[in-house]
Amino acid sequence: MRLLHVSDLHFGRSSVPAQVEALEAFIARESLDAIVISGDLSQRTRRSEFERAAVFVRRCESRAPTVVVPGNHDCAWWTGMLGAGGFYSMFNRYREYIRSDIEPQVRVEGATIVGLNSAHGIQTYTLTTRPRDLTVVGAVLRGQWARARTAFAMAPPGDLRVLVVHHNVLRGKLSNRWGLASREFGLVDIAHSGADLVCCGHDHEERIEGVSAGRRHIVVSTAGTMTDRTRGGRPGSWNLIDADAKQVSVALYEWQPAGAFMRSRTSTFARRTS
Ligand SMILES: [Fe+2]
Ligand SMILES: [Fe+2]
Repeated sequence: MRLLHVSDLHFGRSSVPAQVEALEAFIARESLDAIVISGDLSQRTRRSEFERAAVFVRRCESRAPTVVVPGNHDCAWWTGMLGAGGFYSMFNRYREYIRSDIEPQVRVEGATIVGLNSAHGIQTYTLTTRPRDLTVVGAVLRGQWARARTAFAMAPPGDLRVLVVHHNVLRGKLSNRWGLASREFGLVDIAHSGADLVCCGHDHEERIEGVSAGRRHIVVSTAGTMTDRTRGGRPGSWNLIDADAKQVSVALYEWQPAGAFMRSRTSTFARRTS
């Protein structure tokens, strides 16, 4: 089972077209079982940004089942603050251009993939004393976790259970910031959902790790970005995930000065449930 994981494309001014085109060429020629896009497809929810994002998503869909969730930059938070205006209205543009379903579930041979929307804008449960996090911090509510838990419980035995959320579920090494308002407790929620692998982004710094939480072992694939807004001058990147019955390996593909993505390192984790 081979899955490509990309995040934070931010189509618009900060997007790097050469990197996007190189990734599109990779997707066009490689055999993939699924493609995961973990949010922030636009920069400011502009139509022109979503138009290009939609082209990218359609190209992915033409090659493999594609799971895409919104990020905080895809959420017009100013239209739905504290519940006013309606929750789904914040995703009108995203739903018009990308997908009407902001929490898709897909099953491919060997994997059950569940997307949860962690971009909630400004709600009572996302309020924070850190002003710069006010419109940025993510949340996943109890009902959402329950949906993932149900989907994973119904998955055939042996399936890799893949959870997709936008916000980083580990604290960023360079940013020192958690993506979710629940911080480290988000990892326990993920473990209780039954996920084996989490695909996330948001931090603009790649981070691939195996972590233990809630008496489970979880592989975390945090994808970087393909914009000029990487952290610490890191190169643009995305992740390629291979899984079989025994192990999950996550390869990091980084942009090279010569103008191509190259595999720079691979992390391999044994598959286990505790
Ligand atoms: Fe982002
Ligand atoms: Fe984000």
